[in-house]
Amino acid sequence: MEKYLDLKNSTDYSKLKVAGDIIRSGGLVLFPTETVYGLGANGLDKNAVKKIYIAKGRKQDNPLILHISNFSMLHKIAKNISKIEEALMKTFWPGPFTIILNRTDIVPDIVTGGLDTVGIRMPSGKIAKELINYANIPVAAPSANISGRPSGTNISDIFDELSDKVDYIIDGGECEVGVESTVVRVVDGIPNILRPGKISPEEIEKVVGSVKIDEHILKNIESNEKVLSPGMKYRHYAPKSNCVLVYSENNEKMIKEIQELAKKYVNPLIISCNENAEYYDVEHKILYGSKDNLNEIAQNIFKDLRKVDEFEPDIVIIEGVKEDGIGLAIMNRLIRACEYHYIKL
Ligand code: TXA
Ligand code: MG
Repeated sequence: MEKYLDLKNSTDYSKLKVAGDIIRSGGLVLFPTETVYGLGANGLDKNAVKKIYIAKGRKQDNPLILHISNFSMLHKIAKNISKIEEALMKTFWPGPFTIILNRTDIVPDIVTGGLDTVGIRMPSGKIAKELINYANIPVAAPSANISGRPSGTNISDIFDELSDKVDYIIDGGECEVGVESTVVRVVDGIPNILRPGKISPEEIEKVVGSVKIDEHILKNIESNEKVLSPGMKYRHYAPKSNCVLVYSENNEKMIKEIQELAKKYVNPLIISCNENAEYYDVEHKILYGSKDNLNEIAQNIFKDLRKVDEFEPDIVIIEGVKEDGIGLAIMNRLIRACEYHYIKL
């Protein structure tokens, strides 16, 4: 059987039936969503879900998101839904928004890492939606990458690390958003953002009048600290090379700091916005997009982080962005990529 389906330039979604059947019968499928690629399996089949953890080398206590394509699937896997949770789902679904809800008994323990809650998302990406429709069950899917690596936003970035571990590959080209979904858990009536994404704190606040940003989004976790989301604990997105993040609201100040820092190294690599590139006199530069277009930067950031090791730099210096809107998500990923080496001026 041909294992690869090319839907980059085709809208013949009826071809997704094959992939839906593979998921239903316990196989693993690499598929695009509007955020990042997912590594999907039947979310109600514990043996299928186990294959995800093995393929990714993922820690068993880090729970997975169940992806659904309609509200009747929701009520099979979640219960005791509050008015606020309902309002959030109605506003942001389908889309890059994941909500943590109380789970029902049909959700296997392996999906939730033994927690009594489950993360649920209804993606808006057409391929993801049709795939879930064909599978006709909730699809468990983490980001498609070996644990710790940057999430995959196109097939060529993840082909080598995952192709021989999956039963089927759907190529839908580049993901539109580029960073994973916003993860929210409502605690005492207030939505807590556990992982920032395209759906911003500002947008969430507009729906329910309040929002809390978990303090661990931009800060390291002490070894004995309890966190609301297990994923926060793990090393993530980091290239092999040593990385440092630099940011100031004052652009000139930021450029100067980066210039000075770069001089201390033999083979520095600088990742910056297009506009600032001309100020850096180094051999290796990666431009992540215009500083006036945070959506573009979000779309490129994982792809760019995947490129750095090939230059074998002795330091990677990355320009930060303002934390507005999707900027908070970009900074959350960059701080982790730099393993909390962050110079804020
Ligand atoms: O955009 C996305 O969300 C992508 C695409 C494929 O949909 N998926 C994704 O999954 O990013 P993953 O597994 O890479 O990240 C899921 C995050 C982890 O940080 C995990 O700890 C958290 O969601 N999570 C899942 N279930 C949870 C729960 N019950 N309670 C708290 N956090 C949970
Ligand atoms: Mg992930």
